[in-house]
Amino acid sequence: MTRATLRDNGFMHEPILSATTFPSMDVSTPEQWQQIGIETARNQPRVAESILSLMSCLEDITDGFAVNQLEHSLQTATRAELAGADIEMVVASLCHDIGKVISVANHPAIAAEILRPYVRDEVYKVILTHQDFQGRHYYHHFGLDPDLRRHYKEAPWFELAQKFADEWDQTSFDPEFKAEPLKHFEPMVREVFAQPQKVFFSQSETVFGDDRPKPIFRLFGESRPLAQPCSCPRGRAHPPDVSSRRRSSSS
Ligand SMILES: [Fe+2]
Repeated sequence: MTRATLRDNGFMHEPILSATTFPSMDVSTPEQWQQIGIETARNQPRVAESILSLMSCLEDITDGFAVNQLEHSLQTATRAELAGADIEMVVASLCHDIGKVISVANHPAIAAEILRPYVRDEVYKVILTHQDFQGRHYYHHFGLDPDLRRHYKEAPWFELAQKFADEWDQTSFDPEFKAEPLKHFEPMVREVFAQPQKVFFSQSETVFGDDRPKPIFRLFGESRPLAQPCSCPRGRAHPPDVSSRRRSSSS
């Protein structure tokens, strides 16, 4: 989606104050960073639109499978939803192969890092390691170890990862399966990506909460977008109550 389209559709805003910026960071002021935080939060809706745009690109990738990667992703997400998975897991199922738009070789890590600020940790770990769990079903064809999942045996998200790989992902190359269209998942994508739950730097993680550090609070916490009506089938509003999206791994 182009910048103009994002702006025309209300997913991206013109700057409130355009002259507040600085020529280099070492002369920046707290007020300027406050303004950048506000602008960044106002434009947060472009994240979901970028995700949906990337999802559409998966339709061009088939690479010898029976269905293209968009269809595979829709089937995986449909199976997750039918099994009663919560919204974070449904959206993660939809996006689990989104990294293939960039690079097949490291696609699990790309998808996992895109999702990471917006989902609970176990969902991130399931997507990050999904190839190791998938190996059970085909790695023997390459002479590779099909039981790489054993390395995660003690992880609290092990059962969820098994369910994802064995029941939803590896079964979703079926041309006869009737998956929900991408439009069905759009409200869920917009809800999950409406606001990050945490931010990551190279050596640290900052989780948003009442005890959030002041600089992060300035950047994001005081500049949340106004709530908007949501057509999501679950009837949620934007921005979401993040805690309401959290469920146990057994869901
Ligand atoms: Fe997959």
